[in-house]
Amino acid sequence: MNKIIFKKVSSSEWEKVKKIEQTADTNLFRPYPGEKAFKKTILESVFCFIQQNGETIGLIQYEQKSKNEVYVGDLVVLPEFRNQGIAKLAFKKLFNDLGDEKYSLHTHPQNTPAIISYLKVGFKIMKWVDDYHGTGKPRLYLEKN
Ligand SMILES: CC(C)(COP(=O)(O)OP(=O)(O)OC[C@H]1O[C@@H](n2cnc3c(N)ncnc32)[C@H](O)[C@@H]1OP(=O)(O)O)[C@@H](O)C(=O)NCCC(=O)NCCS
Repeated sequence: MNKIIFKKVSSSEWEKVKKIEQTADTNLFRPYPGEKAFKKTILESVFCFIQQNGETIGLIQYEQKSKNEVYVGDLVVLPEFRNQGIAKLAFKKLFNDLGDEKYSLHTHPQNTPAIISYLKVGFKIMKWVDDYHGTGKPRLYLEKN
């Protein structure tokens, strides 16, 4: 398996981020509502492209939510690279880089590939949230300690 790296996204790369996010099913995934929200997010969190052999193959965004908790807000792997262990590698890198933290995230209850990927790297489903983001759409909340 080829190594991956995280390369920080810059504020001028909104169009590239948007294109990657548009590959996800919007019934199961909430893309950034616009450039303004994207720019705010990159100031407040770590937002990186996932790259392999110099090629961008996805993105990951996370933030230090509290002293010992890292919240993963966004993870997308481009369709042609899915089911090849990239999400797993990205989590391994995250856990290795950041160490012994509590990790948390939300995902849609019908996002099977996401749920399976998360369970396989050690997350546990903690609760069901009925109306996440105020959109009327549900989410599962997962944690890894
Ligand atoms: C969710 C997502 C990031 C997973 O990325 P990925 O690189 O394809 O995931 P991986 O290949 O690392 O999969 C991890 C494990 O889950 C398994 N898996 C994934 N989808 C599966 C499925 N539908 N059925 C069974 N197993 C599945 C893989 O086989 C792998 O396990 P293994 O390595 O033991 O075989 C990717 O599907 C994606 O970008 N989806 C669109 C965006 C999205 O919904 N993001 C999540 C937002 S919360």
